[in-house]
Amino acid sequence: MIVLTDLHLLPEGGRIIGLDPFGRVAAAIAHINAHHPDAERVIVTGDLTHRGDAASYERVRELLGRLVVPCSIMLGNHDDRDAFFTAFPGAPRDRNGFAQHVTTVGGYRLVMLDTIKDRSPAGTLCDRRLAWLDEALADRAPAIVFMHHPPHPTGFAGMDAIALDNGDAFHALAARAGNVRLVVAGHVHRTISGVYNGLPFAVFKSPVHQQPMVLDAGDTSLSVDEPGAYGILLLGERGVTVHTDDFALTTAAATY
Ligand SMILES: [Fe+2]
Repeated sequence: MIVLTDLHLLPEGGRIIGLDPFGRVAAAIAHINAHHPDAERVIVTGDLTHRGDAASYERVRELLGRLVVPCSIMLGNHDDRDAFFTAFPGAPRDRNGFAQHVTTVGGYRLVMLDTIKDRSPAGTLCDRRLAWLDEALADRAPAIVFMHHPPHPTGFAGMDAIALDNGDAFHALAARAGNVRLVVAGHVHRTISGVYNGLPFAVFKSPVHQQPMVLDAGDTSLSVDEPGAYGILLLGERGVTVHTDDFALTTAAATY
């Protein structure tokens, strides 16, 4: 399984710190198609666009349409839910209209949450979304929960101020359910892993622009041109192995 996060697409000609999101995401998708055509699914964990506009969602459609692997799409704080559903009318939504759904891969429930908090860069899980999550975990099958906003601290002061605003409620629910094996998030544009409240987590870099490795940076728009990356999850009966590939650095392997 592949995790792509934070595509930040802009209309044609748009740049972020001088980088072309369309070209970078196109390179990521070409790399996935070349190296992981047998992956069971690609999960895109939000911030599909930079400004939530229709022209950018058309570019998201064009690029994700190139994937040879089935794809599940989620939303982040840079997205607009209505504009997304206009561009992707067949995208799954829950009974309350949130972009949340569950699919099963390799014996795991992949639970994809909608953490958009209106008019805020932070995220939230309101009571209706938490109730849906409770039901999604009720059958006690091993689960991996995907959400744009990390529900745990990352150590980046600025990003932690705009993380999921009720992470404690999520962790209390997950602890009660007892079957969440891994939490996967985006939002931070940095490769981060650890454990919080007993739950392992993984956060991945963007294929486009990254968070500089400055923990006390308060400016959340500060970005750096490190190589684009995506995550790779190997799902096994007894656990999940987490890899990242800085795909832009990849050169042909040679023996030594
Ligand atoms: Fe982002």
